Amino acid sequence: MDKNYSVLMVGCGAISFVWFTAFAKRTDCHIAGVVDINRGMAEERAAQYGLKCPVFDDFDTALAEVKPDIVVDLTFPFCHHDITVKSLKAGAHVFGEKPMCLDRAEAQDMVKTAEETGLVYNVHQNRRSMKGTRALRKAITEGRLGKIWMTCCEIYVNSDLSSIRNTLPYPMLQDQAVHSFDSCRFILGADAETVYAHSYNPPGSKYNGDGSGACIFEMSDGSTLVFNAVMDTDYLNTPWHSQFRVIGEKGAAVWDGKEDTLPLAQLRQPDGSIKEEYLQPGDDWNGMLFHECGVEEMMSDLKAGRVYHGCGKDNYKSIAMTFSAIDSIKAGGKVKVW
Ligand SMILES: NC(=O)c1ccc[n+]([C@@H]2O[C@H](COP(=O)([O-])OP(=O)(O)OC[C@H]3O[C@@H](n4cnc5c(N)ncnc54)[C@H](O)[C@@H]3O)[C@@H](O)[C@H]2O)c1
Repeated sequence: MDKNYSVLMVGCGAISFVWFTAFAKRTDCHIAGVVDINRGMAEERAAQYGLKCPVFDDFDTALAEVKPDIVVDLTFPFCHHDITVKSLKAGAHVFGEKPMCLDRAEAQDMVKTAEETGLVYNVHQNRRSMKGTRALRKAITEGRLGKIWMTCCEIYVNSDLSSIRNTLPYPMLQDQAVHSFDSCRFILGADAETVYAHSYNPPGSKYNGDGSGACIFEMSDGSTLVFNAVMDTDYLNTPWHSQFRVIGEKGAAVWDGKEDTLPLAQLRQPDGSIKEEYLQPGDDWNGMLFHECGVEEMMSDLKAGRVYHGCGKDNYKSIAMTFSAIDSIKAGGKVKVW
């Protein structure tokens, strides 16, 4: 009979709803404990999902008492290293929220600990679960756009000062950009090699740190990735998921980054004409959205002993784009992504 995995949910804030919803409906696992340093949040979430499991306000106690198979880390980014490493060392797999953490040495330690313990550490990047992302990835993998030259990925959103975002010196890069960096790596099947970055805080911004900036990456497939983000504008907004333009030698595609839309492509035909079509996702997309999709993929990979596409080792290559972009800002020039 299949194992029924016990799950410890850690952190019951804004993003926790989608994770509780995704886990509550599964039959291959059960929520065995709920933790939040604000006990009232944990109690509220447990009641909301009709859970009879114990509720804690201290992670160490919860880990020792519940002895979960899986820890789901939905806490502040600066807690992710501590929770991930302790969980792995205690024998639990970890499914965590982005960003992996705020410090390169901590991120490397999280990946190393997963390798040493032989347990799974996955980072969920929900943009990978959108049909538009999967459709772009499929078209590029199949070579339908030819060799890719340029990707432009842009975010223009109004401010969201929730969570700890407004305590960070580079909120756009440290909290938000990893979604777009990870989407671009996933879509292109390529990693960043160098970056030149510039950040700033526009007049009137509600952020304390730099809520805006731009990065130019040289990618391992020889293409250039241009990323531009303004997190504090009220005008002509894009989704928080970014909008994309990808140009290759045989065509180009644009996607507005919305949940319910598909990328529009113009593709050169053998007779020289240009055909316009909407790109479609392939069989690798399970038809679910965001966290429900991610949890389904993580659970099926865990049960099958497969490596999840967004495992910590892979996600390090996305968060390294953030760390190196900040290095570039501080250095005032182009640096290697490592
Ligand atoms: N995938 C997405 O689109 C998305 C969206 C929002 C947030 N996030 C990420 O999810 C994580 C949580 O963000 P949020 O918006 O839910 O934040 P939040 O501030 O609303 O909630 C975080 C919760 O974690 C609790 N917490 C903090 N440290 C803890 C600890 N050591 N032990 C137990 N509980 C602890 C806090 O009390 C709080 O209730 C962050 O990493 C954030 O970047 C991802």
